[in-house]
Amino acid sequence: MKLKDCHNFDDFRKLAKKKLPSPIFHYIDGAADDEITYKRNTSSFNDVDLVPNVLRGVEQVDLSTTVFGKKLDLPLYCAPTALQRLFHYDGERAVGKAAQKFNTMFGVSALSTVSVEEIASLIDTPKMFQFYFHKDRGLNDAVMERAKAAKFDVMALTVDTITGGNRERDLRTGFTSPPKLTLSSLFSFASKPMWGINYLTKGKFELPHLQDYVGEGTSTAVSIGNYFSTMLDQSMNWNDAEKLCSKWGGHFALKGIMSVEDAKRAVDIGCTGIMVSNHGGRQLDGSRSPFDQLAEIVDAVGDKIDVICEGGIQRGTHILKALSIGAKACSGGRLYLYALAAAGQAGVERALTQYRAELERDMKLMGCTKISELSRNNLRFRKK
Ligand code: LAC
Repeated sequence: MKLKDCHNFDDFRKLAKKKLPSPIFHYIDGAADDEITYKRNTSSFNDVDLVPNVLRGVEQVDLSTTVFGKKLDLPLYCAPTALQRLFHYDGERAVGKAAQKFNTMFGVSALSTVSVEEIASLIDTPKMFQFYFHKDRGLNDAVMERAKAAKFDVMALTVDTITGGNRERDLRTGFTSPPKLTLSSLFSFASKPMWGINYLTKGKFELPHLQDYVGEGTSTAVSIGNYFSTMLDQSMNWNDAEKLCSKWGGHFALKGIMSVEDAKRAVDIGCTGIMVSNHGGRQLDGSRSPFDQLAEIVDAVGDKIDVICEGGIQRGTHILKALSIGAKACSGGRLYLYALAAAGQAGVERALTQYRAELERDMKLMGCTKISELSRNNLRFRKK
């Protein structure tokens, strides 16, 4: 199987599985507990049907949308995800450059393996920085200052990782950051020699935003669940979020909002957007899917802030359904991470090309030429 054989999410996933040592593949692919929420994030889109209109002259389709005051050419952007250097040696450089080609936003994680300064020097399209509220206040201040100095457009505070999710695949494979060889993982690393050669020869693995403050993740191997549980501040509350929002002083979002009550509080503290998200099913299994929860949140705050639907997206039609409910844009991690693992920047570009082509085709088939023409009139919810 090669990149040219990848025509959809599942194909990229298969190729990623071929290329990555199994602890790393399962870190991306896995989720919490029984992975019910992870699966539901995608299957929820199938409970709603599209009702197309025809004969509307659809030769030109405009897929642009405006989020956080920035015009994106695609209503889909690359959500911030951690540790990309482990998936491909170009890591965040590859994803950022691919996102720039599509003039969509690139989200850089606090646990990224390339610095905000380097990303800012590489791309001039909209950039989001994802922030974890650490116990170490010096780290928090420094990270925010760096993102500000690098002129990132949006700060997104993750609020759904107050403790580590129970990712049993990681427990079984022994996945840690940095990766370490264990007796049980030896075979899987040995069976992917290209990954090993690239890992050892193509630049050091580092977490440039954290390593001056904490050894965990860079010099001391920890699981991501442990990192969340021990390094992040579990006392974080709405006052802290409000202070961070005013300290940042620009577009500020909460990533991982699921209730109407919290969405309204996000507006109250000055946020300009929220990501309706359950962290790709990686935290609280049994929580509702973002798509299922989208309508009530859009109804409550959609006229005040940007509501982004994040999680489970594997098709252009999933994006069209979320936009029809009233999301301003969608975002996702795995939808470009498998492609990154499969073939670096070329892989991510191919995945984004396919999402754009699906969106264009599906808009035409829906009889729509602009995102603003999508509405709930075009949807029917199946009776249970
Ligand atoms: C995860 C974090 C790092 O889900 O976002 O693994």
